[in-house]
Amino acid sequence: MPAPMLLKALPGSSKYTDCPAEPCLMVIFGASGDLTKRLLMPALFNLHCDNLLGENFAILGIAMDNLDSNAFQEHMSADIRKFNTRKSFDEGAWNRFVSKLHYTQGNFGDQAAYQRLGEKMKALGSQYNTQGNVLFYMATPPSVFDLVSSNLDRAGIKTSSGWVRIIFEKPFGHDLHSAIELNRLLLKYWKEEQIYRIDHYLGKETVQNLLAFRFANGIFEPLWNKDRIDHIQFSVTETVGVENRGKYYETSGVLRDMIQNHMFQMLAYLCMEPPSSFKPDAIRNQKAEVLDAVRIMTPETVKTHSLRGQYGPGKRSDGTAAAGYRQELDVSTTSSTETFAAIKLFIDNWRWEGVPIYLRSGKSLWKRGTEIVVQFKQAPEILTRGTNASPGEPNRLIFHIQPDQGIELRVQAKTPGPALATQKVNMRFDYADSFEASRGTGYEVLLYSCMIGDATLFSRTDLVETAWRIAQPMLDAWAAEPAQDFPNYPVGGWGPKAAYDLIENDGRRWVEVIGRNVLNKIPLFQKCSEVFLHNLAINLRPDIYSQGDLIIRHGEIGKEMFIISRGSVEVLNEAGKVMATLADGAFFGELSLLNSIPRTATIRALTPCDVFILDKADFDRVLKLHPDFAENLKEMANKRYPGRES
Ligand code: NDP
Ligand code: BG6
Repeated sequence: MPAPMLLKALPGSSKYTDCPAEPCLMVIFGASGDLTKRLLMPALFNLHCDNLLGENFAILGIAMDNLDSNAFQEHMSADIRKFNTRKSFDEGAWNRFVSKLHYTQGNFGDQAAYQRLGEKMKALGSQYNTQGNVLFYMATPPSVFDLVSSNLDRAGIKTSSGWVRIIFEKPFGHDLHSAIELNRLLLKYWKEEQIYRIDHYLGKETVQNLLAFRFANGIFEPLWNKDRIDHIQFSVTETVGVENRGKYYETSGVLRDMIQNHMFQMLAYLCMEPPSSFKPDAIRNQKAEVLDAVRIMTPETVKTHSLRGQYGPGKRSDGTAAAGYRQELDVSTTSSTETFAAIKLFIDNWRWEGVPIYLRSGKSLWKRGTEIVVQFKQAPEILTRGTNASPGEPNRLIFHIQPDQGIELRVQAKTPGPALATQKVNMRFDYADSFEASRGTGYEVLLYSCMIGDATLFSRTDLVETAWRIAQPMLDAWAAEPAQDFPNYPVGGWGPKAAYDLIENDGRRWVEVIGRNVLNKIPLFQKCSEVFLHNLAINLRPDIYSQGDLIIRHGEIGKEMFIISRGSVEVLNEAGKVMATLADGAFFGELSLLNSIPRTATIRALTPCDVFILDKADFDRVLKLHPDFAENLKEMANKRYPGRES
């Protein structure tokens, strides 16, 4: 059955076309800051190159820095070389664009600055014939949102003959109370329909595609519920630490910085009911409704359904040493700010009752990746019943949000050969294979939407407050009981062990999307073919061991092989004597699988260890499919354990 014709065009409304946005003067508060040069200018330049800005458009920047328009243009011309996202940089197009940039210096607390601003706005409005339309952009710390609004009001430049809209950057509030207060203050000066609260995740193509995927394809809706879906996982892992943002991050932490906004927005898209149309409020109503149905944690459930982490010193993936969070600039040496969190939520409605939704995010982790995994219920074990074969894994639908962009469906397929055995395979759609479009910053669609008055991709008062309401019990409980075990994961690690326990205690596990770049770093796999790595990547299972944990016990029947991603282990003989130590990139546990003999040694974690595990069934299959690798592995095993030839 075809999906109902909800989607005329994304985002939101039928106004979204290939036409230039409406004429306007864009006034950027904080124009000398990081956001302006890194994201706003490249995005505006992309819109300009794609003919989406039109002739009647100009930018007026204001900030404390003592610049004039020429100096501002020079700064932006230097920065765009670093930050533009075009496949090739068009000098001519930039020269035409940069001539539209203007600047006025001013302190946001100074009334005279607003007089100058007003005069400039008037002059530029007639020079560019912007028809009285004004877009204010608050690329500033939130602490000045109220100050600027009240001063614009006092100076009489908050109204104009055309439309006036204002974009506020995140964070929108610090907690539920401050978000309510901020909304109250801003609604004194602006009408709700003038306010555009930005969340740059909603500008990402792959995030918008969640809506397109769900509501433009008829096949998924009947499966999208508690009867078919076992659980859902959202992961946002970052390799970067807090860099030079320690001052801000100390007041934030990952729950405020990533989960309460970006991740809850993705959750809303994935779990909301179908809207009756793609009009902004139809979509935002459904988002608000699903967030409203998220069960609010009690102080007791905060303890069992959430955990936090903070990175300590470690090594980045290129092997360089990196400081822990407490050693970062502007961070307290006893900080209890969380740089990692994992939580389990439930949505109390008919569609999702009882389906756990796991979310985790952290900084300074082993890989960069944003992924959503929808895990379906396990098929009945008809194929393997009464045999020794393992039943295979449930189907998984994986949304690769970034840096890989695409969608993957993992299914079981019959392994070639006379026996009826199955293995995991995947069907995959990659953006890079299907679309030519240049990568943008994510801000393009947000700016353009605002310029055409489409608020679909922006948060509404009620949405912001509901998202804070979900986060608040964790904020309260964590503030009341600072973590005692920080730091609890190293830079470059997989996060705290407790994050694995959170999901494993429910009989589930995090699905790690392992890129070939990760496997290529492991010496054992360096010369392996692409097909081998592909097969391996979907079969490896990650796990974490604490210092002192027994990983393998002498005499046991081997069920897995282990590859150390990070950490070190000691190898003990039957008498408990240390025979060797193994570290990053080494592997163990293969001998008993190769020879079908009991474990010949005990292996204990000397430090916290992140390991990849290959289960025996997958090990056997991978070796059978890749005889070269099997030979290589046997040869290595023979060298390591002479006299036990396999
Ligand atoms: P910066 O500190 O780099 O820039 C802040 C800007 O505001 C500067 O131009 C500064 O001027 C100006 N400013 C601050 N106070 C005043 C004042 N009283 N009078 C005049 N000018 C003032 O911050 P960012 O650009 O990094 O961030 C801005 C906002 O964007 C924040 O809310 C942040 O959370 C958000 N954001 C930033 C991202 C990023 O990648 N940077 C990503 C996503 C969101 P001057 O430098 O001259 O003092
Ligand atoms: C920002 C956070 O909102 O999002 C940063 O403040 C984070 O801490 C960033 O690094 C992540 O954005 P992206 O687009 O790189 O996933």
